Amino acid sequence: MNAMIENPHPLIIHFPIALLLLGSAADIAGLLFRREELFRAGWYAMMVGAPAAVVTGVTGLWSALRAGYLAPDVEDAVNLHGLLLAGSIVLFTLLFIVRFPSRPVLPAARALYVAALVVAALLLGIGAHFGGELVYVHHVGLR
Ligand code: HEM
Repeated sequence: MNAMIENPHPLIIHFPIALLLLGSAADIAGLLFRREELFRAGWYAMMVGAPAAVVTGVTGLWSALRAGYLAPDVEDAVNLHGLLLAGSIVLFTLLFIVRFPSRPVLPAARALYVAALVVAALLLGIGAHFGGELVYVHHVGLR
């Protein structure tokens, strides 16, 4: 319980990963099959997933900056994870703002929107993979 309060990062990482990857998949399918309900599903997932990603990023920074937590040998690996996820968070946040319900993405702009979504989702997936390596290869958080 104490560990969760001291470092909530591992507790909440699952929310943006699951929601934003699922939402992106729904949007891609929506574009391919021209189905409005898939776009709606993508929006609902993003509505929770994008704010969750920002909160997760803050907890990640907190985790990385905790005094005496990181050894110099893992600094590069932490920076790589942090930068990839920071890029993903910025992109998802911009896409979230563009898509806010009062300003729906116009059908003509959807291909461009989904292309940017794919980049954000790739950054998220690859960055999260390196997050797993931080723990299971470099033993960050287990030392
Ligand atoms: C949406 C944003 C983020 C996601 C989805 C994410 C995901 C992950 C994942 C999957 C792990 C492995 C956890 C485990 O297996 O127990 C991890 C660990 C870690 N992440 Fe992130 N991360 C995010 C943002 C950040 C940011 C911006 C930083 C800042 C550098 C960061 C720093 C860390 C650190 C230091 C660890 C090592 C273990 C720990 O203290 O939790 N993360 N992250």
